[in-house]
Amino acid sequence: MMLDSMSISTSSFPDLADPAGDAAASAPVVLDGVRKRYGRGRGRVTALDGVSLALAAGSFTAVLGASGSGKSTLLQCAAGLERPSAGTVRLCGSELSSLSDRRQTVLRRERVGFVFQDLNLIPELTVAENIALPLRLGRRRVERAAIAEAAARVGLDAGQLRRLPSELSGGQQQRAAIARALVVRPEVIFADEPTGALDPYTAQSVLRLLRGTAEGATVVIVTHDPQVVRFCDQAVFLYAGRIEAVVAAPEPADVADRLHALGALANSGGGA
Ligand SMILES: Nc1ncnc2c1ncn2[C@@H]1O[C@H](COP(=O)(O)OP(=O)(O)OP(=O)(O)O)[C@@H](O)[C@H]1O
Ligand SMILES: [Mg+2]
Repeated sequence: MMLDSMSISTSSFPDLADPAGDAAASAPVVLDGVRKRYGRGRGRVTALDGVSLALAAGSFTAVLGASGSGKSTLLQCAAGLERPSAGTVRLCGSELSSLSDRRQTVLRRERVGFVFQDLNLIPELTVAENIALPLRLGRRRVERAAIAEAAARVGLDAGQLRRLPSELSGGQQQRAAIARALVVRPEVIFADEPTGALDPYTAQSVLRLLRGTAEGATVVIVTHDPQVVRFCDQAVFLYAGRIEAVVAAPEPADVADRLHALGALANSGGGA
């Protein structure tokens, strides 16, 4: 397998390769030597095997790799939703292990937005109530104008705001999820396969929207879709829990080739 010849070493990206360096000091998302193991004994799985990464403020990063390569685990560890087995994570300037669970929760609620395919809208609440949820949880004032503005930014109208999520299409629901993530004006947005259930056209418009509305936020998108990288500054490829390559200004065709090679390698048992 010629993966080595396709690899771009992280050393050509000093800010990415050196999480302790100056460029990384101000990065809102920094992982340093992060490992994550699940289970024990013969059932033990190493989901992340020493991942170091610093994402610059305002950057858009796609995380790609075969199924099981550790993408979701990377996102969960970066967001503090999973605790690494080893290594450190710094999010919005705070090392997560130094914060109590409660302070981590507050940090996530106030400064981080999430768009997950399956951590979605609450079915009993209207779309407007769903969008307002992060504000309510943070005991912040919920102004109708702020909700209407967040909805307008993603192209949802007043009539749609009054409906239940089940009364919207998949694409409209994803817009509502993005509005909910944006309503606190987060510094970092984590998205795990945010367009996985959408047709290619709707997926593109949702991503264009995310790109256009993130307003300086640092965005990390886990995806299987090579087209997503059109909206990203860089692509991080995972293989068996490690960073296999980091590619700046990625092209969808190259990304598709690389994913194909990584998928073949994973399925040939050449790693994970
Ligand atoms: N809670 C868990 N308990 C045990 N093993 C887990 C757990 N979560 C993930 N894993 C394992 O860790 C590895 C990485 O999983 P992860 O969900 O990060 O992969 P992924 O790259 O997101 O895959 P996909 O593209 O299929 O979503 C897999 O082998 C998975 O089975
Ligand atoms: Mg996943």
